[in-house]
Amino acid sequence: MILNRNLSISQMMFAGGTLMLLAIGLLAFTFVEKVSAMTPGDPANGKVLFEKRCTGCHALDTDKEGPRLRGVYGRKAGSVPGFVYSDALKAANFTWDAAGLDKWLTDTESVVPNNDMSFHVPKAEERADIIEYLRVSSGK
Ligand code: HEC
Repeated sequence: MILNRNLSISQMMFAGGTLMLLAIGLLAFTFVEKVSAMTPGDPANGKVLFEKRCTGCHALDTDKEGPRLRGVYGRKAGSVPGFVYSDALKAANFTWDAAGLDKWLTDTESVVPNNDMSFHVPKAEERADIIEYLRVSSGK
């Protein structure tokens, strides 16, 4: 009895793992397409979009539901002192740049699985504009 139960749980885990790998493969495929379509953005339009899309959870200089974003371009991920990040983002070990931000805004899960930001920007031009605004306002 007990043996059977353990077996079926491990079988389920195996099936879950396979599905997960498939999903990751599909996502990776989509990104290659999207990143290659990236063009330098317009920071003025990026400001308008930032105010529309991001300021519900973020501000440049104060932490809200999300961390402050001035300086995020060129900053280590998950590193604003005092902001309570997900364990996943806190443990991340990379620095935000244009490509990373583009992936993040396309699908945060593809960059840091199990993070706490459930939001994305589907349009490539909008992402490029927002990223350019973040870069300029970060003084980079
Ligand atoms: C629904 C709320 C919400 C919205 C809307 C949102 N974010 Fe976030 N964002 C978060 C949260 C929460 C985190 C922290 C995630 C974690 O700890 O895993 C985060 C983290 C981030 C990070 C990582 C920061 C760091 O210090 O590593 C970036 C970059 C970011 N958001 C950019 C944006 C941009 C740009 C927009 C608008 C297009 C946006 N977010 C919209 C909630 C949001």
